[in-house]
Amino acid sequence: MKHSYLVVLKILVWIGCLCPLLLLAYRAVGNALGPDPSAEIASVTGLTALWLLASGLAITPVRSLSPRLNWLIRFRRLLGLFVFFYATLHMLTWLGLYAGFDLNTIKVDLTKRRFIIMGVTTWLLLLPLAATSTTWAIRKMGGKNWNRLHKLVYVAGLSAMVHYWWKVKPGVLSPAPFTLVLLLLLAVRPVLAWVQRRKVQAARRARAVIG
Ligand code: HEM
Repeated sequence: MKHSYLVVLKILVWIGCLCPLLLLAYRAVGNALGPDPSAEIASVTGLTALWLLASGLAITPVRSLSPRLNWLIRFRRLLGLFVFFYATLHMLTWLGLYAGFDLNTIKVDLTKRRFIIMGVTTWLLLLPLAATSTTWAIRKMGGKNWNRLHKLVYVAGLSAMVHYWWKVKPGVLSPAPFTLVLLLLLAVRPVLAWVQRRKVQAARRARAVIG
């Protein structure tokens, strides 16, 4: 893809990723966050983090459909950093608006409410990924170690899913679409790895015949 197209796409992705925050701020200024503004802020930031996480996970399978889609890889880091950004805003909403930065309330939540424990676990899983997202970190760690560490994103996806299911009331199915998408993305990975291995083996055999 042409460099100029990539720049335009990058700007569009930035705008798209910032839209939920700007809309939230706009509604907050207009006093239009509904009867429970804290819950609304937690909902928008949580859902945005969740779906950006799924979008980042979708990049590898979508890329494998055609080599012409290789440019998508350039957006994975940006999406990942926005996941962490929204997850952190979401966590700060809990710390500030739910717990009022009161250590006792935070302690009770962290020991008694399993969905909060799972939320914090998810955030802690995302933290090393965001911290090692720089080119410097990739070089320092080496590609293999970096790739190994970044497999944590799947665990973070699963724990975010559990956090969501544990948060909603029994019988509420709002986490189902994310769950389906996540499980599909996880299931497709070993298939892609197998196809890739077959391609490499076929190429080796072809080279051996020619050689
Ligand atoms: C320190 C970490 C976290 C804490 C303390 C936390 C806390 C919360 C709280 C209090 C709610 C309930 C909001 C309400 O009253 O409706 C919530 C909902 C939610 N959280 Fe988290 N969370 C954390 C991390 C995460 C992360 C990392 C994600 C996603 C990647 C996430 C996704 C969600 C989603 C999707 C909802 C449901 C939104 C809705 O029902 O509309 N959370 N979380």
